[in-house]
Amino acid sequence: MSQNDQPIKPWGGRFSEATDAFVERFTASVTFDQRLFHHDINGSIAHATMLTKAGVLSQDELQKIQQGLESIRQQINAGQFDWSISLEDVHMNIEARLTESIGIAGKKLHTGRSRNDQVATDIRLYMRDEIDAICKELTRLQTGLADLAEREFDTIMPGFTHLQTAQPVTFGHHMLAWFEMLQRDYGRLIDCRKRLNYSPLGAAALAGTTYPIDRHYTAELLGFTAPTENSLDSVSDRDFAIEFCAFASILMTHMSRMSEELVLWTSSQFNFINLPDRFCTGSSIMPQKKNPDVPELVRGKTGRVNGHLIALLTLMKSQPLAYNKDNQEDKEPVFDAIDTVKDCLRAFADMIPAIQPKKDRMHEAAKRGFSTATDLADYLVRKGVAFRDAHEIVGKSVAYGVQTGKDLSEMSLSELQQFSKTIEQDVFAVLTLEGSVAARNHIGGTAPLQVKAAAGRAKASLAGR
Ligand code: ARG
Repeated sequence: MSQNDQPIKPWGGRFSEATDAFVERFTASVTFDQRLFHHDINGSIAHATMLTKAGVLSQDELQKIQQGLESIRQQINAGQFDWSISLEDVHMNIEARLTESIGIAGKKLHTGRSRNDQVATDIRLYMRDEIDAICKELTRLQTGLADLAEREFDTIMPGFTHLQTAQPVTFGHHMLAWFEMLQRDYGRLIDCRKRLNYSPLGAAALAGTTYPIDRHYTAELLGFTAPTENSLDSVSDRDFAIEFCAFASILMTHMSRMSEELVLWTSSQFNFINLPDRFCTGSSIMPQKKNPDVPELVRGKTGRVNGHLIALLTLMKSQPLAYNKDNQEDKEPVFDAIDTVKDCLRAFADMIPAIQPKKDRMHEAAKRGFSTATDLADYLVRKGVAFRDAHEIVGKSVAYGVQTGKDLSEMSLSELQQFSKTIEQDVFAVLTLEGSVAARNHIGGTAPLQVKAAAGRAKASLAGR
């Protein structure tokens, strides 16, 4: 201990006065980077194992280090570890405690290593585990969507463009559109994981080290694909954090779009679905209210994740090689993006299978919006009418429908024939919503049989993960 009862700084040798108390707090990261402890310990054990193989540490020293670190892991897990701000970060806190408990061997652990390659290793290991957890949650959500699509493969709803009724689609088709967005997100995440999974350990401060280290061995011990190629790049690269946040931003953007639709659909104006009470909350003043808080909050949280992406891009912009203290600022955005994405995915994965579609309401809404107008035009074209003329004829029929409050399928043959003599009795087969969706019978189309097949392919792709 130093005079003022603070632990001695591991780098204190060349300093002649104590760190200013505010500067100490300002520069410390231990309040947030302590969540890396597990991976810091794993990285240290791999490093010590390699140093032993290289003859830098003895077998006995390695054993002490390993036991010491495992006991520190237990203390932290049990909430019995006293984190010290004056030891700055997770790395120095753990190393100082190790030395306190095992003595000289603890002081040797940092041989051939720097906190610069140490932290770059820790964050990659930590993110790799979190990415794997996120992959699982994403898969759970996608499974829910594919199941729902399969169940509702022929449930008719209005499809929209400009949020105006356009053509009928099936609810299953709509769920599979969401599925596809997430399918691309999953691909982006896997891609990020691949590029992240290289070991910077051994880059040391920036130039490498004079000890006979074996970077391939530590990479292998830690489950990395290989060591990184360039020591300067290794300690300064944070692309993986940016890539992760880019993935997270796009995912959140997708979930905000789903949220928006869920919010619309639960309104009494749309009234397309019911969300069970357990996913909603009430109002303290308006007794009738049931609010879709979960989707609203997911929609809102998109903002903070987008913010983290911009924070990281700006953090890295113009940084000279190699490590700079700026890089300490990578952690909070990454941590919060991870926490937010995990929570939002969990909420959605729980909620999606519980959606109760109101089939009659959606069917009625599709009918009210003249959603088979394009089908009538296509019918006329098949009978030899030019598309532009057909468009005009149907436009007039719709205007008549607006006046009389009738859907096209509810008009009599003679009513329809006011607009074109080409229309015959067989028109009614195409004017029904069922006829309309069934006719879009090609891959990617909304025909129920296509939706069923697409749901099957979706599930097969999940099974192959
Ligand atoms: N806490 C630091 C960080 O998060 C660890 C690396 C510090 N290295 C240094 N030379 N000050 O980036």
